[in-house]
Amino acid sequence: MPRWKKSNTVRADLRRLTRNMLILGIESSCDETAVALVESGTKVIYSLVASQVDVHAVFGGIVPEIAAREHLRAIDPLFHKVMSESGVAIDSVNGIAVTQGPGLIGALLVGIAYAKGLALSLKKPLIPVDHVEAHIHSAFLSDDWTQDKIRGNFPAIALVASGGHTNLYYMKSPIQFKLLAYSQDDACGECFDKTAKLLGLKYPGGSEIEKLAQQGDSSAVAMPKVVSPKSKMMFSYSGLKTHMVHQIAAYRRSIENQEGPLNLENTYIYNLCAAFQSEAFAQLVRKIKNAVDDYPESRSVIIAGGVAANKKLRGMLADTLGLPLVFPQLKFCSDNAAMIAGLAYRMFHTTDKESMKGDFFKQDWDAYSRYRFE
Ligand code: KG4
Ligand code: ZN
Repeated sequence: MPRWKKSNTVRADLRRLTRNMLILGIESSCDETAVALVESGTKVIYSLVASQVDVHAVFGGIVPEIAAREHLRAIDPLFHKVMSESGVAIDSVNGIAVTQGPGLIGALLVGIAYAKGLALSLKKPLIPVDHVEAHIHSAFLSDDWTQDKIRGNFPAIALVASGGHTNLYYMKSPIQFKLLAYSQDDACGECFDKTAKLLGLKYPGGSEIEKLAQQGDSSAVAMPKVVSPKSKMMFSYSGLKTHMVHQIAAYRRSIENQEGPLNLENTYIYNLCAAFQSEAFAQLVRKIKNAVDDYPESRSVIIAGGVAANKKLRGMLADTLGLPLVFPQLKFCSDNAAMIAGLAYRMFHTTDKESMKGDFFKQDWDAYSRYRFE
């Protein structure tokens, strides 16, 4: 039986772990169950994602209770699949990282309970990680990234644009996250998903809209310019979404098709999607530019989250910012567990004393302190 003892030994031992630390990451915040093994925060040894997209597609969005039940079905087989297919012995894993939030509470509970069970039975440290911050570290999941090269990109401005968040950060170091701005209403990806639903596209709709937009001319349909809410960096997407509701309703009236499926293979729809996409991204570009102006010491701009997979966004940013841009590989833009392990590693291995302000090790996370590990 493990000894249920609140102990400083845990924290001391964590500091002694080697640089080649192998971390098992677990992610279950939304509609993807994911497990990954990552060495030194960058080298992805094995990463699997079990998507629930098909289960939720019939509802046009995620049903939280169903998501939690699907995680419960998926997580144990997925863990065993990762361990057997990677050939990694569980004993060589140095720590278990898990998404602690934000996310759907029932969904998070499954991953956290599973990770706690693993950590407890294996006597490994449990590392709770913020999902949105971890998205930023998906950008460093490649063998090309040495620790020095990563550090050389900081201070940085980082944007996470996903289905749940549009967060802009100033990062003095890889583990210091100063939240500069977020969406006051819908997230950028959410705006894509809702517009896609109006068009009858399948969920999640971001990549579907991108495909239609590629054939359109963004200047052919006028879009309202999103006026900045209170701060010059905060985001807002509900106005653009409402505009799309009216625009698509007007189009339906014009073709006398109030409810039936729309034929999406036509120039107007292509142009509408192109114009929508451009305006949605123009807002991101403007706000990132403001952040870069406010933090001129920034050495790079990191763009992560599901929306970062969009080629048009990548192109618009490349033309404007005058700083190196860092994007995740496409396969790591959407939710995965490798990014969870990636951030967890870096939280341990910062050599930057400044980064240790708000001391990670002083935080009294219950998950850490319930047992001793050797
Ligand atoms: O990061 P992610 O996988 O999950 C969350 O944490 O939310 O992001 C999913 C979001 C969805 O809203 C999806 O429509 C959007 O990312 N997305 C895209 C593209 N691919 C995914 N949005 C625009 N263009 C894309 N190519
Ligand atoms: Zn995410």
